[in-house]
Amino acid sequence: MTTSAIAVTGLRKAFGDKTVLDGIDLDVPAGTVFSLLGPNGAGKTTTVNVLTTLTKADSGTVRVAGHDVATEAKAVRSAIGVTGQFAAVDELLTGRENLQLMVDLSPVTDDKRIVDNLLQRFDLAEAADKAAATYSGGMRRKLDLAMTLVGDPKIIFLDEPTTGLDPRSRRTMWTIIRELLADGVTIFLTTQYLDEADQLADQIAVLDKGRLVAQGTPEELKRQIPGTHVRFRFGSVEDLDTAARILPDSTRDDDALTLRVPSDGGTQSVRTLLDRLAEYSLDADEFSVNTPDLDDVFLALTGHDTAEVVAK
Ligand SMILES: Nc1ncnc2c1ncn2[C@@H]1O[C@H](COP(=O)(O)OP(=O)(O)O)[C@@H](O)[C@H]1O
Ligand SMILES: [Mg+2]
Repeated sequence: MTTSAIAVTGLRKAFGDKTVLDGIDLDVPAGTVFSLLGPNGAGKTTTVNVLTTLTKADSGTVRVAGHDVATEAKAVRSAIGVTGQFAAVDELLTGRENLQLMVDLSPVTDDKRIVDNLLQRFDLAEAADKAAATYSGGMRRKLDLAMTLVGDPKIIFLDEPTTGLDPRSRRTMWTIIRELLADGVTIFLTTQYLDEADQLADQIAVLDKGRLVAQGTPEELKRQIPGTHVRFRFGSVEDLDTAARILPDSTRDDDALTLRVPSDGGTQSVRTLLDRLAEYSLDADEFSVNTPDLDDVFLALTGHDTAEVVAK
């Protein structure tokens, strides 16, 4: 039997007359990664704040680690770790001091080695005795997450853990998240990036205007949106005709003279497509590889773009 690490029904939250969460239901099985996907202002942080007892819901029930957030906040807090959207790191302290502070504040741990272990694990040992103010964005996020792990939480909330990070730090963060999962931790992750949710999550939910407009595995979600494809634009209808005939599974747009061909976008498959065109002496005026992102998800699922997502 799988148990729910997080179970939410009918969650509503308004600020003044502005409804931010308008009846959210979700269930996160223990030991899985759940990703809440949505653009800026969708209500991701508000959801995290309610689930982590920082904000009170207007209505609905929220159980985290088997405890009700409204009536058993203390029990919830002792089971969870939260890495907020804005780093909780004290800039004036060194990395080591930040971690030691968490150990000192933690009721559950007094293990002397824990600080060194975490510094090692997050590749921060070298910078351990420098002030956190000198850390890069990626190092700061890692330190923040390391601080979250001091109490050995079973459920971790990560609010946009990679927003603003360079691609390499992003990948490092993904590796760390996968390691946590392998250790049996449950992870609730918010993100604005479809590829991040796709890489990490067992279940993805898309938040739009205070409601979850889609929920499912990455595969289920991606089936509802156009996949990665190569797009060609031709100079004439004749060329478009020929290309549509010789490139399998393609979709044509006669007005734009474009052809969309499903492809993983890798050099090998793109070369095959271009070779095929060359065989028929076809030249495309324009050529691009398109990977679906959050905008594509929103357009496909809601019929509008990410600019208008906040509930009225
Ligand atoms: N304390 C608050 N008071 C009033 N409005 C708020 C408050 N917190 C968030 N909001 C509003 O709720 C909406 C959702 O915010 P938030 O949960 O931070 O979104 P996200 O994290 O997805 O960017 C935004 O329009 C924001 O302005
Ligand atoms: Mg936020």
